[in-house]
Amino acid sequence: MLQRLEQQAPDALLALIKLYADDTRSDKIDLGVGVYRTGQGDTPVFGAIKGAEKWLVENQDSKSYLGPEGDLGFVHALMPYIFGSDATMGGRLEGMQTPGGTGAVRLAVALAKQMGVTKLHMGTPSWPNHAQIIKDIDLDWQAFDHANADGTANIDAVLAAINGAGKGEAVLLHGCCHNPTGIDYTIDQWEAIGDALASSGTFPIIDTAYQGLGEGMDEDAAGMRSVLAKVPEAFICYSCDKNFGMYRDRVGAFYIMAEKGDEGSETLEKAFSNANALARASWSMPPDHGAAAVRVILRDTALTQEWLDEVAMMRARMREVREYLGKAGMAGSVDFAPLAQQNGLFSMLPVTKEQVQALREDHGVYMAGSGRINIAGLTMDNIDKFIAAVADVTGS
Ligand code: LMR
Repeated sequence: MLQRLEQQAPDALLALIKLYADDTRSDKIDLGVGVYRTGQGDTPVFGAIKGAEKWLVENQDSKSYLGPEGDLGFVHALMPYIFGSDATMGGRLEGMQTPGGTGAVRLAVALAKQMGVTKLHMGTPSWPNHAQIIKDIDLDWQAFDHANADGTANIDAVLAAINGAGKGEAVLLHGCCHNPTGIDYTIDQWEAIGDALASSGTFPIIDTAYQGLGEGMDEDAAGMRSVLAKVPEAFICYSCDKNFGMYRDRVGAFYIMAEKGDEGSETLEKAFSNANALARASWSMPPDHGAAAVRVILRDTALTQEWLDEVAMMRARMREVREYLGKAGMAGSVDFAPLAQQNGLFSMLPVTKEQVQALREDHGVYMAGSGRINIAGLTMDNIDKFIAAVADVTGS
């Protein structure tokens, strides 16, 4: 029976971690998988997380089961940071904990299918796992272009997709720090997207995995909040893996917004009964530790401030790298200038697969095959070498 299985290629992004680890060159540069790195190239555990973990060691008195919805204290403590001062939108919003943002996206797509969504529209390029999840759940999907060649968001394409979709179809949007392009919609564009969603009836699924790593905690949520103020219903997928540095602890949440007038009604309860059943059949319940640590932070003023300061520090470092690249301008055929206007961990370089391979083999520079780079992999010590490497492989 086992021989009937076909060999699958390893996930290209995760395979880079191993390739990089096996490279013995001391000046190699890792711009692959999306983890934050300090100016020294480390991915340390946040001070606020250490503080919360210490508290948990001393005070957590049970590791008995929670339900498929996980730690609701964590889910609710996050809401003001994601949704703002009226965090429940007058009772229209509720959530559950998921294993990372991936778990939330999986629930969103599975639930969309269950409630009769026939097609999902998605801007490409996107995080490669989006397409894998959609395919695995066997939902039909259609691509539209996320970005223009000049490094701006293609607002016409997303509006055409939403207006052409309508009731019964859904659109998947990145809330901020677009992965892989770093190209976000402006607030005016988000307003137009919200209007198009409201008039067409297309169902929004918003994936927010990098809040705070772009322009600020509130700034990065502003577009999503403006959409939620206009539409009747939505799914929101959230990850704490980056903005709390919890990657392998898998900390995420899935929120559902119901129609106005449905406050406290059966609609949300019914929707979550389905989401809980899907979670139970997939992972039973999410891993507790990371979410518990985030809850401890958000219930403690000093730890919350420490966490916000750490996020601000990450943001400032990535902005510094982007500005340096922006000032560098052209390197070979690559123009770094647009990267200064982009947000978050990622940007895309207009390079071929062969050039990506040459960067890896000749210069020890590791990036995704798509040309995506992790901005946080660059430091003031390696950035000039990186720029020179790009000039070398793309210059004529
Ligand atoms: C990435 O895009 O590098 C991260 O989101 C890690 C992942 O799970 O792919």
